[in-house]
Amino acid sequence: MHSSSIILAASFAAICQGYSTLRPIQKRQSSCPSVWTEVATDLQSSFVSDGTCTDAARQAIRLSFHDCFPGSCDGSIITANECTDRGENSQMTEICGTLGEKSTSFNVSNADLIQFAAAIGIASCDGGFTTSFYAGRTDTDTANPTGQMPGANINATALVSLFTSKGFTKTELVALSGAHTIGKQLNGSAMDTSVGKFDSGFYKSVSDGSANPINADKYMSNSSDTKTEWNSVGASQTSFQDAFVPAMEKMSLMGWDKADLTDCSDIISGFASGSLKQSSVVESGSSQGSTSSGDDATKTGSATRNGDVARGAILAFVSAVIISWI
Ligand code: HEM
Repeated sequence: MHSSSIILAASFAAICQGYSTLRPIQKRQSSCPSVWTEVATDLQSSFVSDGTCTDAARQAIRLSFHDCFPGSCDGSIITANECTDRGENSQMTEICGTLGEKSTSFNVSNADLIQFAAAIGIASCDGGFTTSFYAGRTDTDTANPTGQMPGANINATALVSLFTSKGFTKTELVALSGAHTIGKQLNGSAMDTSVGKFDSGFYKSVSDGSANPINADKYMSNSSDTKTEWNSVGASQTSFQDAFVPAMEKMSLMGWDKADLTDCSDIISGFASGSLKQSSVVESGSSQGSTSSGDDATKTGSATRNGDVARGAILAFVSAVIISWI
């Protein structure tokens, strides 16, 4: 064989090997699989109590962040044991176990189930928003990189820089941190003054010192880097919702292209409107159920897994044509 043929053949083999580690993408379905209605009904029993969300729901909301943020929303927090092996996940081992079992019994991916449980968890809280949910993520048993999660004492500048590196704006960072409105500290004490309510009052109570937040939130409310966004997102329930819902969607799509997934958001809005007593903190005229177009999710951040697959396929095809031509 000519030496150039050998080089090309070697490149072709390398390309194929490199991309063989990528996981297959489920075929996009024309409608949302009905199993998600069953999963919603099942989760409701442990996520809702006395008209608001439970500790299990809190853990599920936080779990979505911890599965996605280190790399992609790929279920690895459960399937690659990040939950049990990494200190930052130690408060979520219970929900990891529960969702791991449900993923088997309902035959859905852990990656999807984690995002679905977070959306149901948020909708379970008094005043909780209706966020979107897209199905079709596949699981991996390869762990996401370590050292990516922010700690409780991180300062605002470092937090902005970390979130920027993952493609998130300051407003999105501040909005997502608003999930702490229903959060509890390690010792069980509430992070804000109305822990049962998913409400914008969190922002004000952190700013004025009446809440008991983690330092990272306190720093964001004070810092010249993030104070404007803090006050603007927290100005009202509507401004909180308008910032939180698209930011949550963007986070839930880390590593995925929305165009390849199936829109199951109706299940979340159906759950929110049909099964829950909420709205006590939602202002009239707010757009419950509205979700962003989500285009940002596919435009920002690093290349998606699907983009990698497409690029690999093209490279492999071109190499094969050249080899056969030689
Ligand atoms: C922005 C950077 C963030 C930092 C530094 C952070 C840090 C923390 C820490 C340290 C705790 C536990 C508190 C304790 O141990 O005393 C916690 C709890 C929590 N976090 Fe975050 N978090 C961040 C963002 C997020 C995001 C994006 C979400 C979800 C959208 C989220 C949802 C939660 C929830 C729901 C809890 C309460 C869990 C429970 O009560 O069991 N966090 N967070």
